Amino acid sequence: MAEPFKYNNKTGLTWDLIEALFPMFEEASAGAIAVDRHCRITWINTSYAALLGIPNPETAIGKLVGTVIPHTRMPEVVESGRPLLLDIMEHENQQLVVTRLPYFDDDGQVIGAVAFVLYDDLEPLTPLVSKYRRLHQDLLAARKALARRARGTRYNLGDFVGASAGALEVKRRARLAAGREIPVLILGETGTGKEVLAQAIHSVSGRAGRSFVGVNLAAVPENLLEAEFFGVTPGAYTGADKRAREGKFQLADGGTLFLDEIGDMPLTLQAKLLRALQEGEVEPLGSNKVQAVDVRVIAATSRNLEVMMAEGSFRSDLYYRLNVLEISIPPLRERLADIGVLCEALLQDISESLGLRAEITDTAIAALSSYGWPGNIRELRNVLERALTLDEESGTLDADAIFKVLPQQSTGCLPQHSVTQIRPLAEVLAAAEAEAIESALLGNRGNRSQTARALGISRSALYEKLARLS
Ligand SMILES: Nc1ncnc2c1ncn2[C@@H]1O[C@H](COP(=O)(O)OP(=O)(O)OP(=O)(O)O)[C@@H](O)[C@H]1O
Ligand SMILES: [Mg+2]
Repeated sequence: MAEPFKYNNKTGLTWDLIEALFPMFEEASAGAIAVDRHCRITWINTSYAALLGIPNPETAIGKLVGTVIPHTRMPEVVESGRPLLLDIMEHENQQLVVTRLPYFDDDGQVIGAVAFVLYDDLEPLTPLVSKYRRLHQDLLAARKALARRARGTRYNLGDFVGASAGALEVKRRARLAAGREIPVLILGETGTGKEVLAQAIHSVSGRAGRSFVGVNLAAVPENLLEAEFFGVTPGAYTGADKRAREGKFQLADGGTLFLDEIGDMPLTLQAKLLRALQEGEVEPLGSNKVQAVDVRVIAATSRNLEVMMAEGSFRSDLYYRLNVLEISIPPLRERLADIGVLCEALLQDISESLGLRAEITDTAIAALSSYGWPGNIRELRNVLERALTLDEESGTLDADAIFKVLPQQSTGCLPQHSVTQIRPLAEVLAAAEAEAIESALLGNRGNRSQTARALGISRSALYEKLARLS
């Protein structure tokens, strides 16, 4: 120990170095302590003793460090020979930031450890700690999103929120569907969660590790649907891509193909789809060779396929092929009991994405329960989002906040505030349009084609308007 200060490259910190550095660390830290290889305290400075509430530092010498500092991790450092450079240690309701270093003899054997308390007050670190917590939350959210992307889905069965009898029956059937390879037909008005459910079934099925490929029949122009479904061989038609393009069937091979808005499928394609499902093979456009595909089909629609069959616009053979297990999601107005839990789940999601804090009162829930919800859960989400943005400061939604944004259900007479409150014309027109669409959807029980007809606009125009509203 009498040897001059030296640093041993092989063994790291030696006692000499520790001794040399001690005054500096002692000065800069809020406390310092040293233990031997048996974890007995060999030295402790007065400031650390004071921090620990020990009036006379001498009394601590020779004691096992764990008996004096219950949450110490110095024994771990002595045991492993590895430093714990930064740690937060609890001591009687205070959090201490500590650093702990082992020290070695000339042969590289651990002969003890030293520890320094860097700050006795975490206050200056608060911004750092909260930033750390935020980053940690972001990391967890990103990991969750990545895991979902790997599955090809965003939702699993837990995301289908609801505890009413209707919701539980939906979940029971979904689990039944997940355990088997049978085709599933999901029925429900707009915004009831058909897509959420389709993804959930996939992610709890045996195909969860494979891709989930969705195609919205109403959103793809009719002349492109066949290529979209079955793919294209190079030069299949004039102006066609030089490269081959895979269709949704090929992309979903081994996984799940989600046929959204199946009721909007043109009759010609219905026949081709039926053949593909029956034979398990598809023929890309411009090719005369068939390709085997293995897909599990989940179809969904908000339309009444039975009426369509009676009218001759939906093939009954395709209907029976798709409808092996039917899951009908009740509209929100038939499961108002779920509004409370839905609000909780949706508000959590919204507040996370907006970085706000959000709560809802019982009276607000009662206000929400008085409404008919033609746009179902999607509309509920929008209402909550709007109420929260208007009421950002308080973060608590009460009945007033809800009534401010809840659409008027009655049509035919002008809402009263339009007489007293002058607003820009564009805003008034947009509100009137939203109201007309919502009541038309309600009147047509969510059937979009009928809604579009009733409003005298095309189905695609309705889709565009709905997308702008959501
Ligand atoms: N049971 C549920 N629990 C939680 N959120 C839900 C539930 N059902 C729907 N949602 C939310 O409502 C929105 C609409 O859901 P989704 O797109 O699945 O409806 P949809 O029935 O496919 O509607 P559309 O017929 O208009 O396509 C989504 O934002 C989704 O997160
Ligand atoms: Mg959908």
